[in-house]
Amino acid sequence: MDPMNLLKKGQIAKGAEAIIYRGTFLQDPIAIKHRLPKAYRHPDIDNRIRLHRLRSEAKVMTSARKIGVSVPCLMGIDIQNHILILESLEGKILFEKMDSLPTEKLQPIFLKIGRQIGLLHSNDIIHGDLTVFNVLIQLEEKPSLIDFGLGKISNEVEAKADDILTFYSTLKAIEPASKILFSTFLEGYLGVYPEGKNTYEQMKKIQSRARYIAREDRLE
Ligand SMILES: Nc1ncnc2c1ncn2[C@@H]1O[C@H](COP(=O)(O)OP(=O)(O)O)[C@@H](O)[C@H]1O
Ligand SMILES: [Mg+2]
Repeated sequence: MDPMNLLKKGQIAKGAEAIIYRGTFLQDPIAIKHRLPKAYRHPDIDNRIRLHRLRSEAKVMTSARKIGVSVPCLMGIDIQNHILILESLEGKILFEKMDSLPTEKLQPIFLKIGRQIGLLHSNDIIHGDLTVFNVLIQLEEKPSLIDFGLGKISNEVEAKADDILTFYSTLKAIEPASKILFSTFLEGYLGVYPEGKNTYEQMKKIQSRARYIAREDRLE
């Protein structure tokens, strides 16, 4: 019998790519992340993509944890079955949290998120999919980062700018106070990573490039 089946007690969540199950390991709660095949992709390509993301996620989250960024502890990896075994974190994803708190209560959280991303980027670690769905807020408003499957190690300013632009874009889509919250995020980011001003400059360049393309595309 597949020992993984014993652990699959209950589904926590279904993300865009994976199903997360709850389990226990030596009495500690764990999350089992199973990347599902995508039927629209050719099976060989699908396998390669899932394998690449599994390896990246394991590697990048381990590097992040080593430098003191709050991420779940990686407890195991099953390459054959596309499964990661992670420490399970208690808390709410940022998206949900934003629904329940006013701007002034959210600001200290965004400052801390900025510091976490600043620490990540100052060590040349890229999250790769920094949406409001991939930040988990634990007890005492402590932010942790999850979902590193598109992450990489890189010193490119473009990759860092993509991270903060993704964060701003998802924020803007759901939150009227996105400008205030993003500037609080930046305050935390630049506080631990002063060279991050280049990231921010690059982010603005990408934004104006996107606006220019949008104008070009506009129909008369
Ligand atoms: N270590 C964890 N502890 C607790 N919940 C988790 C953990 N990892 C993921 N989750 C939950 O599962 C959801 C999807 O996980 P995620 O890693 O973002 O997968 P996907 O790539 O499918 O988006 C998250 O939004 C979160 O609610
Ligand atoms: Mg996710």
